[in-house]
This record gives sequence, C-alpha cells and structure tokens, in this order.
Amino acid sequence: MTMTVRAWTKEDVAAIAEIERQSFSDPWTEDMLKDALRFPVYHTFLAEEGGQVCGYSCLIVLFEDAELANIAVAPTCRGKGVGKLLMEKMHEKAKALGAERVLLEVRVSNESAIGLYEKYGYSRYGKREKYYADGEDAYLMAKTL
Ligand SMILES: CC(C)(COP(=O)(O)OP(=O)(O)OC[C@H]1O[C@@H](n2cnc3c(N)ncnc32)[C@H](O)[C@@H]1OP(=O)(O)O)[C@@H](O)C(=O)NCCC(=O)NCCS
Repeated sequence: MTMTVRAWTKEDVAAIAEIERQSFSDPWTEDMLKDALRFPVYHTFLAEEGGQVCGYSCLIVLFEDAELANIAVAPTCRGKGVGKLLMEKMHEKAKALGAERVLLEVRVSNESAIGLYEKYGYSRYGKREKYYADGEDAYLMAKTL
C-alpha cells in the first residue's frame, strides 16, 4: 500500500482529534481543527494509507513567514517516515506560496520532534519560559527555505 498526502476535509476531523488526544496533553479540540478548514491562511496535510489516517499537519502561511502549527503521527505509525513525508509536503507548499522561513515552537522535552526538526535544518533561536499550560518551556525554532 502507498502512503498518500492530501488536504483535510471535515470528515477527517474525528480521526485527527483522536490522534491529537493520543499525542498531546493539551490536544486541539474538534472546533480548533475545524477552524483550520475555515481560514485560507491554514494549509492542511493528511497522510493516509489504505483509507487509514496515519498522520497530519497544519501550516499557517502569511506572506514571507510560515508557521508549523501542528504535526502528529498516530502512535502505531511512528518511526516509519510519515513525519518526514509531512515535513517535505509542508516545505514544498510554503515555498510555492513564497514563504521565506518557517517558525515553530516545541516542548523542550520533545526529543523526537526536535530530532525531526533538526533533521530538516531547523535551529533553535530562543526559549519561551512556561509557554505551555502545564508550565513547560518551549524552544523557538526556525528554518530558512
Ligand atoms: C514527532 C513525530 C511527528 C515524528 O513522526 P514520525 O513519523 O515518527 O517520524 P519519522 O519516522 O518520519 O522520523 C523522522 C525523524 O524524526 C526523528 N525522530 C523520530 N522519532 C524519534 C525519536 N523517538 N527520538 C529521536 N528522534 C526521533 C529522527 O530524526 C527521524 O529521522 P530518522 O528516522 O532518519 O532517524 C511523532 O513522534 C509524533 O507524532 N509525536 C507526537 C506529537 C508531537 O510531539 N508533535 C510535535 C509537536 S511540536
């Protein structure tokens, strides 16, 4: 079977919300996910294989700046390159829309995500103290396209 990537539709929201809850202590709600479908600055990506949702991401593009707003892979699909595929699709889209850099925040303890971002040339340019509701700090990371 082949992994394909397409934009989200409203029919995907329940499956995405389920992976959110499995992946984050502060998951996006279904309403937050639906907002990503309503506003044109949001660009959504869904990786699926045989009709099964394996991962998803969301990119906000505003002129020269893009922000990687969300990315997660279903626990059973991790470590198989789905995260990399989503990163590549987002970078392609950001470039095509004329963005010059991509920014993101990540929990300082999130080694797998930091590893993924470093692999794609993101570097840390700052730290935001107690950025998350549970008091954890965030690294600010950026990549020039
Ligand atoms: C981060 C996440 C999206 C990675 O997705 P994935 O499909 O498992 O990643 P891939 O298989 O494409 O791996 C890509 C790279 O990420 C890094 N990586 C992935 N898992 C890792 C781990 N457990 N430890 C360290 N680095 C890891 C590696 O650099 C890897 O490249 P390699 O396989 O060539 O070594 C996934 O772990 C996830 O959904 N985590 C929970 C949600 C989350 O934290 N999202 C980020 C919020 S900022």
